[in-house]
Amino acid sequence: MKVPILSTVFYVALLASSSAANALTAERAQVLIDTLRQDCGSCHGMTLKGGLGPALTPEALRDKPLEFITRTILDGRPNTAMPPWRPLLTNEEAEWLARQLKEGVK
Ligand code: HEC
Repeated sequence: MKVPILSTVFYVALLASSSAANALTAERAQVLIDTLRQDCGSCHGMTLKGGLGPALTPEALRDKPLEFITRTILDGRPNTAMPPWRPLLTNEEAEWLARQLKEGVK
């Protein structure tokens, strides 16, 4: 499946760092937060309050388990615009992002 809105810069940055240590470095965390704002934000709204995709605010995700959100990020939603991010994110990173969303992105 194609990920249309993904910027080349983002792609390269992710690939370059995917072989790095498993622990999330501050640098990697910053890349993921930028991803959230730019790539996820292109569908979910720059402030994640919704757009083409639903809001990803802590209030909107309150009743959704962390694992459910993580899986949605990794596998996307078939037959919707939500793409799978598994090629670009490790399980750990997807879970980290899911936690950011549930707690509110700073
Ligand atoms: C091309 C548009 C698009 C992009 C880019 C995108 N999403 Fe989505 N996303 C959607 C759509 C549309 C849905 C709703 C799918 C449905 O109808 O179930 C969705 C659903 C979700 C959900 C489930 C929300 C819920 O309430 O169940 C999460 C979590 C999510 N996206 C996270 C992300 C994250 C994190 C990123 C970036 C890594 C991202 N999305 C990038 C379009 C997108």
